[in-house]
Amino acid sequence: MLLRSLLRMSYRKIMASSSSSFFFFLLSLLSFFSFICSLPDVKTTTITIPLSRFKNNPSPDPLHKLTHLVSASLTRAKHIKNPPESHPTKTPLFPRSYGGYSIPLSFGTPPQTIPFIMDTGSDLVWFPCTHRYICKNCTFPNQNLTTDPIFIPKASSTAKIVGCRNPKCGWIHDPDAQSRCMDCDPNSSNCTQICPPYAIVYGSGSTAGLLLSETLDFPEIKIPNFVVGCSLFSSRQPSGIAGFGRGSPSLPSQLGLKRFSYCLVSHRFDDTTESTSLNLYGGSYSGDHKTKGLSYTPFLKNPATGRHAFSVYYYIGLRKITVGGKRVKIPYHYLAMGSDGNGGAIIDSGSTFTFMEKRVFDLVAREFENQVSHYSRASDVETITGLRPCFNVSDEKTLSLPELVFHFKGGAKMALPLPNYYSIFSADGVVCLTIVTDGVIPDTDVSGGPSIILGNYQQQNFYVEYDLENDRLGFREQIC
Ligand SMILES: *[C@@H]1O[C@H](CO)[C@@H](O)[C@H](O)[C@H]1NC(C)=O
Ligand SMILES: *[C@@H]1O[C@H](CO)[C@@H](O)[C@H](O)[C@H]1NC(C)=O
Ligand SMILES: *[C@@H]1O[C@H](CO)[C@@H](O)[C@H](O)[C@H]1NC(C)=O
Ligand SMILES: *[C@@H]1O[C@H](CO)[C@@H](O)[C@H](O)[C@H]1NC(C)=O
Repeated sequence: MLLRSLLRMSYRKIMASSSSSFFFFLLSLLSFFSFICSLPDVKTTTITIPLSRFKNNPSPDPLHKLTHLVSASLTRAKHIKNPPESHPTKTPLFPRSYGGYSIPLSFGTPPQTIPFIMDTGSDLVWFPCTHRYICKNCTFPNQNLTTDPIFIPKASSTAKIVGCRNPKCGWIHDPDAQSRCMDCDPNSSNCTQICPPYAIVYGSGSTAGLLLSETLDFPEIKIPNFVVGCSLFSSRQPSGIAGFGRGSPSLPSQLGLKRFSYCLVSHRFDDTTESTSLNLYGGSYSGDHKTKGLSYTPFLKNPATGRHAFSVYYYIGLRKITVGGKRVKIPYHYLAMGSDGNGGAIIDSGSTFTFMEKRVFDLVAREFENQVSHYSRASDVETITGLRPCFNVSDEKTLSLPELVFHFKGGAKMALPLPNYYSIFSADGVVCLTIVTDGVIPDTDVSGGPSIILGNYQQQNFYVEYDLENDRLGFREQIC
């Protein structure tokens, strides 16, 4: 989920540098190699998929759990802000399965169902693939890799490996076909070279494999020739990832969706299996149709065309932040994107806690500190969790804290329910603001990228609609 960059590795390079299992895999796939035809129009109206919190460990210690969530959110934020363009990052630290949301998708003929993390911050859809799948450092609490589903291409009659001349190979490699197909005579129509392997580096881990063309099987409709990554090697990945970002390989792009929407069940520090649904809308729906009760704000385009990763993100125009009705004076260049592509705000289902660049966060946190004088600070908890400000409310019967509101371009206001920005732990009576920042180098805009990343913790119990046709985000508060 914390993806962001596709390394342009050559076919030869990865074969030379990796283990022999990869080589055997390539050989076996080559035996049923074929070219891909183009995707037909999706004529369906709505597809509904269950959406559940990614299974995670019910930690006996809520503070410990919180600390992990903070680290995972920060690791992801660093990566989103600073996506590697041509080399792997060295940021992996914590499993980012904590606090994610997953969906089941079925691929192949007959269909094989695999869980995927739903990620609006990346664009490739990939699954763990073949009996030779190797995942390093992938032991997550409550997970057993030997029983977690892996896609077996051999068991599917519709699996085809993507050829290097297929334009879809250009989605993740050089758009120029000849530079991808170095082994083929440019003057010949006869080229059997496969699309070079992909290698994706996420904030916490990585994955690599080959592009397959496969049937994506929904109960209502089968989508042939969907391009999906067959990953052979991963590190620190608890499952496959379904990229819902704005790039060509993403699920919404390949399906030509008009809209998709979700309502995230609340993050509780337990392990229940409740789920809500992810709704995909395709087909003939069109026009400036607004869903009842939603407030809308336009998606914005990042002006920096050179950074591929930035074009995948859903930027929205955050105009101001108010705490207890008081406007936080945030310098404009943090709220808006500059011509270099830095700054601005994105919405990301794959981040847990909202991230704010240090300067922005300090202003917001200070406003809370100024307005909350009726509780004592819990500095020891701040030190352990890295969150602040935290207050000790163990002696209180009711909790009263200033309201936090995000005001967006076009007038849409997101007034967060208290549990979306203050974590409440009944056990120790301490509440903390659940927004993270990078405190490593104080007062320095080191990394660039979005200044604010609206994470899924702040989207709990909101109905959120990505209206791709009208290029805008809609939301309303709702018990999911
Ligand atoms: C797995 O984790 C260990 C210890 O955290 C680390 O030394 C090693 O490099 C990791 N391996 C991979 C493939 O990420
Ligand atoms: C392809 O054809 C062009 C002209 O027909 C020729 O100049 C070129 O050398 C050919 N390339 C190869 C690799 O055969
Ligand atoms: C394609 O190439 C293969 C071997 O490279 C050859 O056997 C076959 O006849 C060629 N087909 C066409 C249509 O050129
Ligand atoms: C919170 O305050 C109470 C006394 O009011 C104290 O007993 C408790 O240890 C404090 N908790 C923390 C985490 O500081």
